[in-house]
Amino acid sequence: MSLIVRPIVGRRAKISALGIYVPPDVITNKDLEKIVDTNDEWIMTRTGIRERHVLAKGLGVSDICVHAAKKCLQARGIDADKIGDFGVECIIVGTVTPDMMFPSTACLVQDKIGAKGAWGFDVSAGCSGFVFALQAGVKLVESGAQKKVLVIGADANTRMTDYTDRTTCVLFGDGGGAVLLEPAEEGEIGFIDYVNEIDGSGGVALNLKGGGSLNPSSHETVDKKMHYIFQDGPAVYKFAVRKMAEATSKVLERNGVTGADLGCFIPHQANKRIITATADRLGMDPERVIINIEKYGNTSAGTIPLAMETAIEQGKLKKGDLVLLAAVGAGFTVGAALLRWEI
Ligand SMILES: CC(C)(COP(=O)(O)OP(=O)(O)OC[C@H]1O[C@@H](n2cnc3c(N)ncnc32)[C@H](O)[C@@H]1OP(=O)(O)O)[C@@H](O)C(=O)NCCC(=O)NCCS
Repeated sequence: MSLIVRPIVGRRAKISALGIYVPPDVITNKDLEKIVDTNDEWIMTRTGIRERHVLAKGLGVSDICVHAAKKCLQARGIDADKIGDFGVECIIVGTVTPDMMFPSTACLVQDKIGAKGAWGFDVSAGCSGFVFALQAGVKLVESGAQKKVLVIGADANTRMTDYTDRTTCVLFGDGGGAVLLEPAEEGEIGFIDYVNEIDGSGGVALNLKGGGSLNPSSHETVDKKMHYIFQDGPAVYKFAVRKMAEATSKVLERNGVTGADLGCFIPHQANKRIITATADRLGMDPERVIINIEKYGNTSAGTIPLAMETAIEQGKLKKGDLVLLAAVGAGFTVGAALLRWEI
């Protein structure tokens, strides 16, 4: 390996803590068999999913974010209500299932965790929401503007899922996670490089049309099921397989590394077959590819932090490891990031 660590303007950023949360209620494939024409064997073979977590009625995605944020800050020994350098300065939330159109989920989280004096915003990038939010946070730290940025990726997809549509309802679950970004210490590397891309021509294949300014909520939008996720599964699948491989290869090649040099690959969990196709292209040892889709389904912006926790639990993510993250999502959006794990 000849890792090229290119110089950056300012200082390097690293992940200094992680916290995740999934709601306790679970829907299994067997449960779905009772409500739509599907079966455990089809879902496992085509997607790798066995069960997914579901947020209880009366809660919103901000509640998932708050649980994850508190665990993350606790892991670093930080009180959210401390101001400035000792507390959280900025909160960035990747989500496409906010509690409401506005205020932003970042504002709701800021209030609920008591992060006085912080600023923040939401990032709408579908399943790439966490990797896009992460890069925004990394740049804030690298520039020297901020020393503590809380980046959260979370979604409550089951709220937008049509449980009469077997082609989508088997896929999605609720959950998410938070990481704290801080300046790297002397000798640490943290974030190395990223490749992010958007392709709006793919918006027709994966969207939620109702409730926005074009089609405000009405009896008609509800009758037409425009408040549910619409997906052309095969079109999304083809794009995801091609672009996950393209973005990950690009970020590895231009930094002088190959899949064999990685401690682990932490991909977005949309479909097990998309993950293994990408990992094969990278020549990765399957043992070092993190897959937890069986337990959680697709939690959109939540999948990567949830998979980071799985990687740690499985002993596959340790300080100093070179790590590749990658996601593809509604938009279309594509994101890949290369970093050294510094926790
Ligand atoms: C959705 C997805 C799992 C479908 O798998 P697929 O292998 O492409 O399956 P197809 O859509 O071609 O459907 C094959 C057959 O299975 C059927 N089918 C679809 N869903 C089913 C289900 N839950 N149970 C049983 N049969 C099902 C279809 O009706 C079709 O039947 P037909 O051949 O009689 O018409 C797959 O396309 C996918 O994962 N797409 C990407 C999803 C994604 O990543 N979304 C989030 C964005 S990050």
